[in-house]
Amino acid sequence: MENQRERVHVLVLTYPAQGHINPLLQFAKRLASKRVKATLATTHYTVKSIHATTVGVEPISDGFDEGGFKQAPSVKAYLESFKTVGSRTLAEVILKYKDSESPVNCIVYDSLLTWALDVARQFGIYGAAMMTNSASVCSMYWQINHGLLTLPVNQETVPLTLPGLPSLASSDLPSFLAQPASNPAYLAAILEQFGSLNKNDWVLCNSFEELEKELLRAMLGLWPLVMIGPLVPSAYLDQQIAGDSAYGANIWEPTGDRCMRWLATKPEKSVIYVSFGSMADIAANQVDEIARGLKASEKPFLWVVKENENKLPVEFVNSVGETGLVVRWCNQFEVLAHQAVGCFITHCGWNSILEGLSLGVAVVAVPQFSDQPTNAKFVEEVWEVGVRAKKNKAGIVTGEELNKCVNEVMDGERSQKIKRNVSKWREFAKKAVSAGGSSDKNIDEFVVRLLKADG
Ligand code: UDX
Repeated sequence: MENQRERVHVLVLTYPAQGHINPLLQFAKRLASKRVKATLATTHYTVKSIHATTVGVEPISDGFDEGGFKQAPSVKAYLESFKTVGSRTLAEVILKYKDSESPVNCIVYDSLLTWALDVARQFGIYGAAMMTNSASVCSMYWQINHGLLTLPVNQETVPLTLPGLPSLASSDLPSFLAQPASNPAYLAAILEQFGSLNKNDWVLCNSFEELEKELLRAMLGLWPLVMIGPLVPSAYLDQQIAGDSAYGANIWEPTGDRCMRWLATKPEKSVIYVSFGSMADIAANQVDEIARGLKASEKPFLWVVKENENKLPVEFVNSVGETGLVVRWCNQFEVLAHQAVGCFITHCGWNSILEGLSLGVAVVAVPQFSDQPTNAKFVEEVWEVGVRAKKNKAGIVTGEELNKCVNEVMDGERSQKIKRNVSKWREFAKKAVSAGGSSDKNIDEFVVRLLKADG
């Protein structure tokens, strides 16, 4: 069976956003490390951002080849176009390999792209959905799909008690559940994936069993989730991050050496790293308050601003000096792995949370939308690896509040406990993906089932 491995070919289909490409590409790399042929299929617009030596890359089309969803008139129109054009072009990729030495045996697709399962069935091959949110958040959508929770989940129905989850206030809920009208097309796509869950041969999730034990216990036998994360660059297992410490995908050009050179000048665990991921558009008054908070902390900081650069207060920019470094984009994983980083102010995107946990960095949570409020709840109350900044009446986290939270996780009374927990979770995360760990075993079982089918 061993020498058949190269004949097993998994086509991994991404949704073309940074927070979705990263874990799917990483999964393809894990498969390749187990000598399985893995090919990443991603849109024309994002294909040029992928650098992977062990994984093949194939472009497909979402119908907007120049600029992706920014070109589309609406989310609904984008998702419909992706379904139609994506199905066709994904089928073309499968046909390309049909008579080769390694025809495609399985499609692992971002769970938002439910139509990929139809393509798999059309060719009589395996289909597996990959969840890019936490299992806990997934379970809430699953509850809705099974009529166990109704929308909108709002003030009248909270605090909410659901199996395996902590008691949730409305501010802890995924924004799509608390305000379903905020993005109906996206919510519909999210919910659709939970309707067809059992039709998949596997439902994989970018999380690990130890992290969401209670939830898994509560949902045992009810749903088919297989935990295979954290899907972060595995080079971190070696302690000394070197070489392959990046995902190998950057939709934006990262400021590389400059960040590392700057970090090298800072004492151990002294730097605040600030990033709000790839999607969050931060209001100008919030940018202002973050700047005030960082200034007040008197600590060195590295701030990824993306398109929010022009919102930075001029006097702040002029006074940054050597204390701070402001960049548009960086290699976040490499930065978080640097010994100088002592705190992560984050929007709590699921990848950012897993990266912080895997690298043992304490968190100040400033959630924006989607699954982020729920992730923030877990950060503060379940895993206890950080604190959540409180918003004022206008929905803004003030500079004073941010400074208070930074002090709490870096130097304050709670910091010792947080640091202990952070080390604990880092070890659990490493163990899960190391040889024989829970996630590694689950990936092995996935591969063995494919091998058996092939043999
Ligand atoms: C989105 C959602 O917000 C998130 O909640 C969901 O779970 C996945 O999709 P995003 O907002 O981009 O993702 O956040 P996150 O999940 O944290 O992903 C961002 C990725 O970009 C991370 O892997 C991070 O390492 C990377 N990144 C971010 C960089 O490489 N450089 C940066 O400067 C900032």
